[in-house]
Amino acid sequence: ANILVLNGPNLNLLGVREPGLYGSQTLNEIRSSLEARAQALGHGFDFFQSNAEHELIDRVHRAYTESVDFILINPGAYTHTSIALRDAFLATRIPFIEVHLSNIHAREPFRKHSYLSDIAKGVICGFGALSYELALTAATHILKTG
Ligand code: DQA
Repeated sequence: ANILVLNGPNLNLLGVREPGLYGSQTLNEIRSSLEARAQALGHGFDFFQSNAEHELIDRVHRAYTESVDFILINPGAYTHTSIALRDAFLATRIPFIEVHLSNIHAREPFRKHSYLSDIAKGVICGFGALSYELALTAATHILKTG
């Protein structure tokens, strides 16, 4: 299956950004290990990060035309603000898992609400870079079993 991994704002700074919260791995390191695992599982794999809301929305639209089967998305702070990103998923109906490095429920109250969680297949948060790997495992399972 074709899997796309999307990353929102400030995730390009992983490794230097609040390492106590987000870990010491860079986004490139996360990408490499995820890509290796996806390929071993026989998936097509693409990975994208942007600090711009419209670029993430455009990437979801493009995923629709590319017949991407599943999206793993860490929307960063757009999790808590973006009705537009929610609407892009509602429009394209591409199944997705919401991923966070940190446990958003153990932080500031404004991080508890997500505009995506209720339309996601599931949400994985709090396990650092492992959150992405767990999401890939879950996506593989969903794609196999329907
Ligand atoms: C995050 C959590 C968000 O609240 C925050 O704005 C981020 C990263 C995470 O991966 O833990 O940018 O999505």
